[in-house]
Amino acid sequence: MKHQRPINSGILVVDYGSQYTLLIVRKLREIGTYAEVIGGRASNPPAGFDFHGIILSGGPDSVDLEGARSLAPWIVDSNKPILGICYGMQLLVSAFGGEIQSGDRREYGKSKMSLSLEMNSRAANVFYGLETAQQVWMSHGDDVKQLPECFESVGTTDGDVQAAIVHKELPIVGLQFHPEVQHTSCGKSILENFVKDLCKQSSNWQADDMMTSTTKYIRDTVGEGKVLMAVSGGVDSTVAAVLMTKALGPERVTAVFVDHGLLRKNECGWVSDNLRLLGIKNLHVIDAKDTFLKKLSGVTDPEAKRKIIGETFIEIFEEFAEQSSDFTHLGQGTLYPDVIESAGDGAGAKVIKSHHNVGGLPEKLKLKLVEPFRFLFKDEVRTLGLELGISKDLVNRHPFPGPGLAIRILGEVNQEDLELLREADHIFIEALKENNLYDHTWQAFAVLLPIRSVGVMGDNRTYEKTCALRAVTASDGMTAGVTPLTIEFLTSVSDQIIRKIPGVNRVVYDISTKPPATIEWE
Ligand code: XMP
Repeated sequence: MKHQRPINSGILVVDYGSQYTLLIVRKLREIGTYAEVIGGRASNPPAGFDFHGIILSGGPDSVDLEGARSLAPWIVDSNKPILGICYGMQLLVSAFGGEIQSGDRREYGKSKMSLSLEMNSRAANVFYGLETAQQVWMSHGDDVKQLPECFESVGTTDGDVQAAIVHKELPIVGLQFHPEVQHTSCGKSILENFVKDLCKQSSNWQADDMMTSTTKYIRDTVGEGKVLMAVSGGVDSTVAAVLMTKALGPERVTAVFVDHGLLRKNECGWVSDNLRLLGIKNLHVIDAKDTFLKKLSGVTDPEAKRKIIGETFIEIFEEFAEQSSDFTHLGQGTLYPDVIESAGDGAGAKVIKSHHNVGGLPEKLKLKLVEPFRFLFKDEVRTLGLELGISKDLVNRHPFPGPGLAIRILGEVNQEDLELLREADHIFIEALKENNLYDHTWQAFAVLLPIRSVGVMGDNRTYEKTCALRAVTASDGMTAGVTPLTIEFLTSVSDQIIRKIPGVNRVVYDISTKPPATIEWE
């Protein structure tokens, strides 16, 4: 299916399987430039996209290994400025006749780069205005052994690891480090210089454009038809449903909310009330709590749980859709990261978890798709939501995964544990809100662990469950830091949980970053 782009020009990002490819796109949009991703094995550039420069992502391959993704000829032949990042730089070095070595000089995390100030080539303009000492973020096993004749080094780490290189004549730059990661302090300047100076790409991406382009897209796509939408109560599907209603009128949009019983405290009522207040007239809430719980009985493997929940959700939704022949379109709040993560669009990052969300509905429904956010990121959808008059409370709600609390109860899911976790989570979230910490946290939640430990309450020995608290800072969930909550705050939450929830006698705080951990525990 062909999808209408909001904008037809910008920068093209070629993905070689990096976990950070979308961060590159995100950073470019932050500096006002529209960008799109194409898979590293694509043998042609995308049709209809007028790109002014190309960024090659990093990736897990080694250039000389069999089956490794190579530099497609159209990339150099396009004569557009190129910025190669990590594996992308190694591909450039190899393609221009240099040598890459594997091995012992791996760097992971922050490094100090010394930048040369004697830069003569045009490509070196990307380093314009930077100090000679820079903190950069590295994640590589291979590095440059021999530069091609036509390249020169402009930055090194550890004395001799090539960290930044430029072509002597062409507008081609290679970076061993990741400018898209926030720990590279000069990363944004480098990307901005590349886009504006080398690619001559003017700003073409602003929040105001999004309302006009998404509304037009919905009207063009749906025509005189009727839309069926699965809503989850999350930001994306809510904003999508409201936008559809605004674009098409309330009679032509029907929202379906499947209550799988894995929701947070009071969530079903809260979501339905909100959707009605936001002008969604046709809302159907399907109570499927028992079905989900039965299917999850005895299942402990995280991927198996995810699969069962995804499939059951689809079955229930399909059943509803089949009862009416009235609908022409299926509306979904699918975001750009979901599109890129699905193999269909050619990107090749390893699947860490199979995601379930309302964007995963099947083609079998015989409805045409309408996905107004297919090219947007979450924070862009939030901006759109505020513009549509949706309350801050809803728009700034923390993300909640499709499989819900089932992936926050480690091991088998049962009713008793669901209730226990719901209460613990509620206590934590309310405390964050009361202390003005909720909006400074990307996501926070409680997790129920399948271990018991010994405690003492009153004069009695207890042998009860452990609850973990997780709070992370992030800009898109692809990487995450730990929210630095004070020990006073944490102990106060812990006291409340242990006091109010029978069955929990220990609370721990998760202090791992992503990577190497993930945000959810399953
Ligand atoms: P991880 O755990 O992969 O999570 O670091 C990154 C972000 O994705 C959310 N998440 C999901 N969202 N369906 C969703 O809609 C899912 O199956 C799913 N699994 C994880 C997670 O909450 C975090 O915001």
